[in-house]
Amino acid sequence: MALSQSGATRDHWSSRSAFILAAVGSAVGLGNLWRFPAEAGANGGGAFVLFYIACVLLIGLPILLSETLIGRHGQSAAPESVRRVASASRASPRWDILAGMGVLAAFLILSFYCVVGGWVLYYIGVFIGDIFTSGIAGGAFEGQSAEAVEALLPDLFANGPMMVGMNFVFLAVTLYFVARGVSGGIEIVANYMMPAFFILLVAITIYGAFGGAFTQTLDYLFTFEPEKLTGPVMLAALGQAFFSLSLGVAGMITYGGYVGRNVNLAGTSAIIASADTLVALLAGLCLFPIVFAAGLAVGAGPGLMFQTLPHAFQEMPFGSVVGLLFFVMVGFAALTSSVALLEVPTAWMIDRFRIVRPLSAIIVAAGAMTLGALAALSFNVLSDWHPLGFIPVFEGQGFFDVLDGLTAKFFMPIGAILTAIFVGWVADRKLIDMENGLGGALHLFWLFLVRFLCPIALVGILVVGIFPGLFD
Ligand code: PFF
Repeated sequence: MALSQSGATRDHWSSRSAFILAAVGSAVGLGNLWRFPAEAGANGGGAFVLFYIACVLLIGLPILLSETLIGRHGQSAAPESVRRVASASRASPRWDILAGMGVLAAFLILSFYCVVGGWVLYYIGVFIGDIFTSGIAGGAFEGQSAEAVEALLPDLFANGPMMVGMNFVFLAVTLYFVARGVSGGIEIVANYMMPAFFILLVAITIYGAFGGAFTQTLDYLFTFEPEKLTGPVMLAALGQAFFSLSLGVAGMITYGGYVGRNVNLAGTSAIIASADTLVALLAGLCLFPIVFAAGLAVGAGPGLMFQTLPHAFQEMPFGSVVGLLFFVMVGFAALTSSVALLEVPTAWMIDRFRIVRPLSAIIVAAGAMTLGALAALSFNVLSDWHPLGFIPVFEGQGFFDVLDGLTAKFFMPIGAILTAIFVGWVADRKLIDMENGLGGALHLFWLFLVRFLCPIALVGILVVGIFPGLFD
């Protein structure tokens, strides 16, 4: 515990490894397992994947270090941390807008993220049911065609009340851990669930590699076809990199606020980014072979994991057990991320309104539940509702997709541009040099990326992503 400026004791990660596990837990989540393969599938495979990796290395990693650095220096909720760095640098406190936008974005993401968390719970239930009805050895519908399976399954997406109910349960579990605090709640989730997650991921990838279409997957994910790298594909890859690394929404500023002085931020940022990227690639290598082998469509978008994949499991030997383990694994990853998403606005409320943690968390969760219910219903009863449909990128999209696109393609890149300018140009050089843990040439390279490459590339990608016709 450390003393905050208000004199109250402030919760901290109990060790460096606890911070790493929690931050990796925040980064690794539905973004890697559900969103990455879906986006890669919908955006043409190899070109998307390779551009994504470049974004992680050249933009994501330097911004990740910038965010944790602000948080560690500020030792507060995100907006206050930014104000403290600004004040130490004799800059305007209004730079806190970058974190304020982040808090809002984290809240918006939380609301639809827990809807997806609810889908995960639903499939855990489906596979437990399958094991009871067809035993361990089989898939519930082994030997039947994909179309036949599709016809047999109740469609989750048509069932509004079920989705809202599951959303509620997932959010309630998230709330329980966040209400218990940083070292007593969030850290516990990460400590147990992340190791279990990694073991399951490796096991299921090996299973997929033997049973599925592995070489076809390698071709699909790593063949670079430059003509496929259009503006929207670049923006999708960039948005995915930010979503996956939890950047641009004050998430890593908030987690950095609980880090002690003795932790080297550059080293830990590199570990977080590598672990996150590895999991995204493993998820691709785990999912696509199963999907290809079952002859299902890779371009199914968000439905890939929640419609295509469960059907594939149900056709395979031991499919019910593997399906259950798969969705338990996804649930662990989702929970270690949803606690981070809830923590960002909760920490802000505690700081801003001096409300105790459990009550702050409950208020935020209640708001997220309301938005989440609207997002869940946008797949059925509210399917004709197209908020922001007048903006070309959101044309024809329901509320769920609008929340997802708005945060990943707007809030996150804009938050990151402001962070890069703030850390690269506005913040005091001595403070930055002292906090970042980099020396010599690496330090200069990082500074070059934050000052020049990140803002320029981010603005460029935003423009070509939003106005793809501009340079035709
Ligand atoms: N990085 C998480 C994922 O890939 O699922 C999502 C996320 C968590 C985004 C926490 C932002 C955040 F603050």
